[in-house]
Amino acid sequence: MSKQSVFLGIETSCDETAAAIVTSSKDILSNKVLSQIQAHELYGGVVPEIAAREHLDHIDSIILAALDEADVTLSDLDGVAATSGPGLIGGVMIGMMTGKALAASHKLPFFAINHLEGHALSARLCEDISFPFLLLLVSGGHTALLDVSGVGRYHTLGQTLDDALGELFDKSGKMMGLPFPGGPEVEKMAQIVKNNDQALSSCPLPRPMKGRKNMDFSFSGLKTAVKNHIDALPPGDLKREDIQNLCYSLQESVADILIDRCQRALCFMKDKYNKDVPLVIAGGVAANQRLRQALSNLANDHHTSMIAPPGYLCSDNAAMIAWAGLEHMMHDGPRHDFSFMARPRWPLDQLFSKDC
Ligand code: KG4
Ligand code: ZN
Repeated sequence: MSKQSVFLGIETSCDETAAAIVTSSKDILSNKVLSQIQAHELYGGVVPEIAAREHLDHIDSIILAALDEADVTLSDLDGVAATSGPGLIGGVMIGMMTGKALAASHKLPFFAINHLEGHALSARLCEDISFPFLLLLVSGGHTALLDVSGVGRYHTLGQTLDDALGELFDKSGKMMGLPFPGGPEVEKMAQIVKNNDQALSSCPLPRPMKGRKNMDFSFSGLKTAVKNHIDALPPGDLKREDIQNLCYSLQESVADILIDRCQRALCFMKDKYNKDVPLVIAGGVAANQRLRQALSNLANDHHTSMIAPPGYLCSDNAAMIAWAGLEHMMHDGPRHDFSFMARPRWPLDQLFSKDC
């Protein structure tokens, strides 16, 4: 590709309606994200049908706003990329069909993008990272360690056997009466704690899977431990100090688990590639500063770097989807995925298989 390409990205797989304009030179010309948090807050979690209706109501205006802010028109585009799975199927279908319609009417290539691939490549949008790298993907729906050896080349080394990490934070937050989503709230509460040792000793929590000879995760036992701790407190509202201590202890427990699992995976990658590879973290939970710091220290110990996209590229957004489309365009040329069917499940390892 000689000239710079300009892509429209569309993301609608969960509770953010998002559109972005990104160039092959890594310029994010616009990155519009409309959160549906208020629509779901009452229910303490994302309600699929409400999410789909919200996407339908806002998808056209958010795309127009992204084009407007970037100061481009549809005829300036070189391609359209839309999340086509995995995710809540109603939302995925709305974003994907909108992307297909725009691409077809303007005779543009259309890229059906795996949402997880968007997260996986997001760090390459803001930093010059070459392959291979170890990816820790931690979001509301997924938790996995992946060997990323090229565009479209992903191999899962380990994953959660039950809850995703973001789910653990969200459900724990809900049990403590914190606003939805719980992840950022748990981090805020943990930051207030003054006596760290006392917080840890007053809320002892387990570290499931730590030391296991694989690279998997399990968070449901930790969630149960949080519940048991709350249930053992005197009846009535939780005191603010109890909540802060519990959040601190929970975050430290998660940090310990991530360090242990990533350490194993970094050693595995070193053996495989005969060199230290960078550790990239992505997904909504990667916005957590304490977890970033813990993993950055781990990477230092392994003589490598920890790379995490800025917060606005960690949580769901369409810039990462446009970028994944651009990466494929630059790597293997234009695609015309007009017959692609939206997929509620779509493991990254099976990026090009037709039957998942
Ligand atoms: O990637 P994302 O925006 O959506 C999914 O694809 O799931 O991730 C959302 C998740 C939520 O569970 C949210 O609580 C969590 O990321 N999260 C955080 C933080 N910010 C967002 N978890 C811990 N600490 C944070 N600062
Ligand atoms: Zn996501």
